[in-house]
Amino acid sequence: MNRASARVAEAAQRACTDEPLCAYIYDLAALNRHAAGLAATLPDNCELFYAVKANSDLPILQTLAPHVRGFEVASGGELAWVRSHFPDTPVIFGGPGKLDTELAAALELGVELLHVESLSELRRLAWLARNRNRQADVLLRINLALDDVPTTTLTMGGRATPFGIDSDQLPECLAWLARHPEIRLHGFHFHLMSHQLDADAHLALLARYFRQARQWQKQFGLTINHLNVGGGIGINYREPDRQFDWPAFSTGLAALVNSENMQDWRIRFEPGRYLTAACGHYVMQVLDIKQCFGRHFAVGRGGTHHFRTPYAQGHSHPFFVLPQEHWPYPFSRSGVEQAKVTVVGQLCTPKDVLATDAPVKRLRVGDLLVFPYAGAYAWHISHHDFLRHPHPQHIYLSVQEPAHAADQ
Ligand SMILES: Cc1ncc(COP(=O)(O)O)c(C=O)c1O
Repeated sequence: MNRASARVAEAAQRACTDEPLCAYIYDLAALNRHAAGLAATLPDNCELFYAVKANSDLPILQTLAPHVRGFEVASGGELAWVRSHFPDTPVIFGGPGKLDTELAAALELGVELLHVESLSELRRLAWLARNRNRQADVLLRINLALDDVPTTTLTMGGRATPFGIDSDQLPECLAWLARHPEIRLHGFHFHLMSHQLDADAHLALLARYFRQARQWQKQFGLTINHLNVGGGIGINYREPDRQFDWPAFSTGLAALVNSENMQDWRIRFEPGRYLTAACGHYVMQVLDIKQCFGRHFAVGRGGTHHFRTPYAQGHSHPFFVLPQEHWPYPFSRSGVEQAKVTVVGQLCTPKDVLATDAPVKRLRVGDLLVFPYAGAYAWHISHHDFLRHPHPQHIYLSVQEPAHAADQ
């Protein structure tokens, strides 16, 4: 067990009571280290924004704030939340289907750049800006064809999707912008895929973005120097020991910025998952273990209404077992040894599955199951009130490293 897992295991142990445990445990010290490491290894002209949709809990944002240049929001709700807690932090606003009220709030709350998704959104924004005697600063989010770049399991562009402006419509948008000085164009935004696990493939994608932005700058005589390359770096849930190779990526990025002559551009990254997934753990106590049609099922306290990530991504989520010795009943515990177990939750649906046929050395009723990589798109994408089960505890381990941690 590594240092972070040991800290989480201790916290889970402390949180146990007579009531079966169900909790999210976030290790803010691990998050702090991770974010600091990413920020420190980006080239000078590259900036880190955090896509708060991945996890907008206040302790998470407070931990990230010193390491990121700002936050990326995708709704009026996220904008209001971030602004109420971080009045001076730069905010950028993207996403499809923005309301007039959201665009107006962006103008009023000092959003640094709006990422515009269509010509009709541009028109509405211009109208709102004119009515307020304001200028709006924007990037155009463009959906590019990706014939020469490998895609991932979650692709938002390179083919027909509702995201961004088809690159064929760019000349029309630029001609329209030339007649509307209330909108200032600063550059382009691309977010064509998430779940990128391959550092070389991601560099190839960025090379494609860099060349395209410079080509349009030249072709249309644009005075722009901003490029937002989105988020999209993935977490390898299926093979947790083989994660995205950040050191190779950041080294390759520095070389790419030089070889593609991008030194004078401001290049922004807005990752969500890769920043916060690893700091979160979902913990459930085993309520029952049974056998059915030759398969073992462990029923845990909680389920996909708290932790929808495995169902949403279609994977069997990795977990480890924390054995518990407390057993209050006057009869023996049921359990399995050297078996494959499917872990399910308390919902009345066969879709409430967190892990399928996962090998365990030993698992007994009352043991704890700890699911790592549950800090992003986990609690925040789940249907919390289905069946009205109580919500899990949310435990945030201090951002201060424990005194003995450095010696471990
Ligand atoms: C426009 C945009 N930027 C950033 C992100 C964050 O992506 P990820 O969490 O994969 O880094 C998303 C995710 O949907 C997005 O749509």
